[in-house]
Amino acid sequence: MSKAQPQGPRTIVITGAARGIGLATATILAGRGHRVVMSDIDGDLASEEASALGERASGYGLDVTDRDAFREHLQMVEGEFGPIDVLVNNAGIASASVNILDQDPAITDRTIEINLKGVMNGTIEAIRLMEPRGRGQIVNVASLAGVMGVPGLAAYAASKFGVVGFTESVRSEFTDKGLSFTCVMPGPVSTGMMDGTSSSPIVSMLTPKEMAAGIVAAVESGRPRVALPRSSYLLARLTSILPPAFGIRLGRWTKIDRIYTHIDPAARAAYEERIRR
Ligand SMILES: NC(=O)c1ccc[n+]([C@@H]2O[C@H](COP(=O)([O-])OP(=O)(O)OC[C@H]3O[C@@H](n4cnc5c(N)ncnc54)[C@H](O)[C@@H]3O)[C@@H](O)[C@H]2O)c1
Repeated sequence: MSKAQPQGPRTIVITGAARGIGLATATILAGRGHRVVMSDIDGDLASEEASALGERASGYGLDVTDRDAFREHLQMVEGEFGPIDVLVNNAGIASASVNILDQDPAITDRTIEINLKGVMNGTIEAIRLMEPRGRGQIVNVASLAGVMGVPGLAAYAASKFGVVGFTESVRSEFTDKGLSFTCVMPGPVSTGMMDGTSSSPIVSMLTPKEMAAGIVAAVESGRPRVALPRSSYLLARLTSILPPAFGIRLGRWTKIDRIYTHIDPAARAAYEERIRR
C-alpha cells in the first residue's frame, strides 16, 4: 500500500536531469509547483535547462559515483532549500555491445559504478537525512532490463537487477520508519540511450514525457513500483519465469534479442562517445 504523501510543493532532487527522462521529469514537476534540483555530471547543461524552467528549478554538477560529493550535494541542497522530500536516482548509462566480451572493460565497470553504485550512494545518503525526520521518498530508476536478461546489455542488466534488488530490500528495512521507496522500470524510451538501436514489432517506444508522467504520478502518490509500458513489463516478467530456452526463443521470435545487438554504429556514435567522457 502507498503511504500517504504530503500535500503541496515539495523539494525534489533529480540526478541525471540535464537530459532525457530526468529532464522531462524535472519539467513536469517544476510546472506543478515543486522545487526541483537538477543534478548532473554535465553541470553546465543542467544549469542551462534549469534556467529555462524558471525560478522553481536549479541545476548543479554532480557525479553520482562520488559518495562524498553526493553527501555534500544533498547537504548543500538542504542548506539552500530546506529538507529534501524526494530524491530521484535517475542518472544512468547503457553501452550496447554484441556480447560482454565485446565491451570495453572500462565501460563495463563504469556501468556498475554509475547505474548501481551511484543509486546506492544516493539512497544511503538520503536515508541518513530522511530517517531522523521520519519522512521522505526515494525513487530509483531501474529498467525492464532489471527483471529480464537482455542480450547486448549484460552489464547494464546486471546493474539494473541490482537496483531492483537493492530498492526492494531497503524498502523492507525502512518500511516502519516513515520512508517510501519507488522502483521505476521503464521499457525503451526515446532518449539518446536508444540512438541507433533496432526495434521489435511488439515493443513500443515511450517518449521521455510519457515516462516522466509515470514517475511524477509515483512521486505524488508514493506508489512503490512503476513499470511502463505495461505490456512490455508483463512480457519481461513472463520471460523471467519461463524456462531459459523458451525465453531465448521468445526473444528471437519477437526480435527483442536484436534491439541492442544490431546497432547502427554511425547513429549511436555520439551517445557512446558521450558516456565515455
Ligand atoms: N531510455 C531508455 O530506453 C531507458 C529504459 C529503461 C531505463 N532507463 C533509465 O532511465 C534513466 C535515464 O536515462 P535516459 O534515457 O534519460 O538517458 P540520458 O542519457 O538521456 O540521460 C542520462 C543523464 O544522466 C547523466 N549522467 C550520466 N552519468 C552520470 C553521473 N556519473 N553522475 C550524474 N549524472 C550522470 C547524463 O549526463 C545524462 O544527462 C537511466 O537510469 C536509464 O538507465 C532508460
